[in-house]
Amino acid sequence: MIDAETMLDRIAAADSLSELEIVRVSALGKSGAITALLKSLGTMDAETRAVEAPKIHALRERVTDALAGKKAALESAELERKLATEKVDLSLPAPESVSGTVHPVSQVMDELAEIFADLGFSVAEGPEIESQWYNFTALNMGESHPARAMMDTFYVQPRNADEEPRVLRTHTSPVQIRAGEKHGAPLYVIAPGRVYRSDSDATHTPMFHQVEGLVLDRGITLGHLKWTLETFVKAFFERDDIVMRFRPSYFPFTEPSAELDIGWSMEKGRRVVGGSEGWMEILGSGMVHPRVIKNMGLDPDEWQGFAFGCGIDRLAMLKYGMDDLRAFFDGDIRWLKHYGFRALDVPTLSGGVGA
Ligand code: PHE
Repeated sequence: MIDAETMLDRIAAADSLSELEIVRVSALGKSGAITALLKSLGTMDAETRAVEAPKIHALRERVTDALAGKKAALESAELERKLATEKVDLSLPAPESVSGTVHPVSQVMDELAEIFADLGFSVAEGPEIESQWYNFTALNMGESHPARAMMDTFYVQPRNADEEPRVLRTHTSPVQIRAGEKHGAPLYVIAPGRVYRSDSDATHTPMFHQVEGLVLDRGITLGHLKWTLETFVKAFFERDDIVMRFRPSYFPFTEPSAELDIGWSMEKGRRVVGGSEGWMEILGSGMVHPRVIKNMGLDPDEWQGFAFGCGIDRLAMLKYGMDDLRAFFDGDIRWLKHYGFRALDVPTLSGGVGA
């Protein structure tokens, strides 16, 4: 018969969990040595059993304890080893093969937030599925207003017969009403986000991005609008030589209204921002219509404001040189690798918003 010391020695000598398991089975398994001893108790006469039983039970206990102690020691040694060898340095950049990039649209949104935060604006949001009140009516586009038809609106199936169909917002302007209603005046906000129009070719996609700007305060004039847009455009394109031109325009929710063009020139066969060889329109703007201020629940005799709405995808194309808008939404990994931005390159005014 195997003696206790040998068994305990074998337990102490096991240097892996699988080796320890072999020792355990040889002692306590179905045909293990201790199991055999326990079975032998049944064949003993009462006297011998009275002497042997306590010894055998004590042996089983010692072996069981030794096994448990060794198991815990081996497990914690294993954990130590893993902790030592499987160190992860979270500050290391991810390998090229697994690292994603920040989409130019997200990048430009971050740049806009950074530029306008510096001017004291905060960021407002609204739903993409919008009521006709916020998307049109409150913005001074009554039921039969031709602008409703002009916007190529997507309508959403109503949930029941009593509900007026909602729309996929055709612009970010409904956020003007929501922000004015919620926060009152004075108010300085931008609202970047997705908008939808039923339109698709090389320069139009059914979903695109806009940023809305809204200022409400006392004594706001067209001069404030002009200064703000000029400051924004120069900070965004990171050049001081940008030539701007205001053109009179019409939007139902602003009066007067103006579109902003910036000048471009040809440089090495490419159109670049700056100079005035030609013009391109980048945004619509104007002084908030008194009726719109009223629809926010504010008194237009006390509060005035300006607003603007600008296509973000267009801004990204101009700044970073892409020429097909549709590629923005194809999800082609090669395009994203080429035009995307590193996740850690957060735009800051001091470091350059271009990252
Ligand atoms: N919402 C207008 C558009 O989508 C842009 C705009 C916003 C014009 C705010 C004036 C003021 O075309």
